[in-house]
Amino acid sequence: MLVKGISAASFRNLAPFNIVPDEKMNVICGENAQGKTNLLEAVWLFTGAKSFRTNNDKELCNLEEEKCKINITFCADSIENTAEINISGRRSAVFNEKKLSSASLLAGKFCAIVFSPDDLSLISGSPEKRRRFLDVAISQIYPKYIDTLRRYTRCLAQRNYLLKEIKQGTKNEIGLEVYENELAEAGKAIIRYRIRYLELAEPFITEIYKGISSFKESFRVKYLPVCEPENLLKRLIETRNDDILTGFTSVGPHRDDLDFLIDELSVRSYGSQGQKRSVALALKLSEAEVLNKVTGEYPVALLDDVMSELDPARQNYVLNHISKLQVFLTCCDPANINNLSTGTVFKIEDGKITEITKK
Ligand SMILES: Nc1ncnc2c1ncn2[C@@H]1O[C@H](COP(=O)(O)OP(=O)(O)O)[C@@H](O)[C@H]1O
Ligand SMILES: [Mg+2]
Repeated sequence: MLVKGISAASFRNLAPFNIVPDEKMNVICGENAQGKTNLLEAVWLFTGAKSFRTNNDKELCNLEEEKCKINITFCADSIENTAEINISGRRSAVFNEKKLSSASLLAGKFCAIVFSPDDLSLISGSPEKRRRFLDVAISQIYPKYIDTLRRYTRCLAQRNYLLKEIKQGTKNEIGLEVYENELAEAGKAIIRYRIRYLELAEPFITEIYKGISSFKESFRVKYLPVCEPENLLKRLIETRNDDILTGFTSVGPHRDDLDFLIDELSVRSYGSQGQKRSVALALKLSEAEVLNKVTGEYPVALLDDVMSELDPARQNYVLNHISKLQVFLTCCDPANINNLSTGTVFKIEDGKITEITKK
């Protein structure tokens, strides 16, 4: 995937622009609140997904305008495509001159990964963040997973509702069996998908992490199921009485977690800020490798504020060693890019984008 050109009018605080990015590395420099993340967001929207910073499309239009427009030219599988997104109240899109019935249909046409400072919560935040990371990554490569996950979530809500009714004495336990059979079946599939995904991703994560840490640290990721997939039905039945008391299903993939280990120590408990950022980055970049392995295409990488808290060797890795992908990287400190060996540097000041150097 290669962005050949991007332009926009009335998008957030950005002055109308039309830029031709470098095929490898694009650094977007500027002080705080100048529009760097806004530019990454404009590129991201072509994945058809929601923005990574807001659920409200209205916020995307400049405060003084009713509508805005973004255009992109990109190559996928060596074929050049154009797309346009229009936002005026709702979001609509045009792909290769054809109007799409919904902007979400851009999904699968243009692909990108995004790393934002919020992704540090992948390491330090609740298990839900880690499960979501896995679920989103798996859904991109195995669309059937979305159905299985939906089936599981719906059935889980139904079992939980019934548990509460049983506690209140308005229903009896008979109905639980149907839900438990279905939960066990879908739950088993979910756990197996997640383990399979991690098996696929692990060699990449390990390799990327080694690169980031200059081969000084070893990294491993472990899936932590609350219950082995083959025992799920048995455990659901065993925990029934406790679950009736709490009104909540206590076993299944909705309670599972991931553990990240550096030199066999848990990063969440023992890792430094720089190590946590490096792990989050390695996870995101491994997503790109898995996507490439399965689809034959590398996504574009949008890396927001990754440089802060990384030491010079780690910054050098980010600047010069992610060469298989086209990268858009934001940073505040111009000193961060002294060691950039090839790429284009853009500067953003008060929403105005200018190209300052090409190396
Ligand atoms: N819809 C909008 N209209 C005008 N300005 C906006 C809009 N949305 C955000 N901004 C402004 O954009 C700036 C933040 O841009 P951002 O890309 O997050 O900055 P940074 O360069 O720090 O990444 C803020 O000054 C904010 O007020
Ligand atoms: Mg920013």
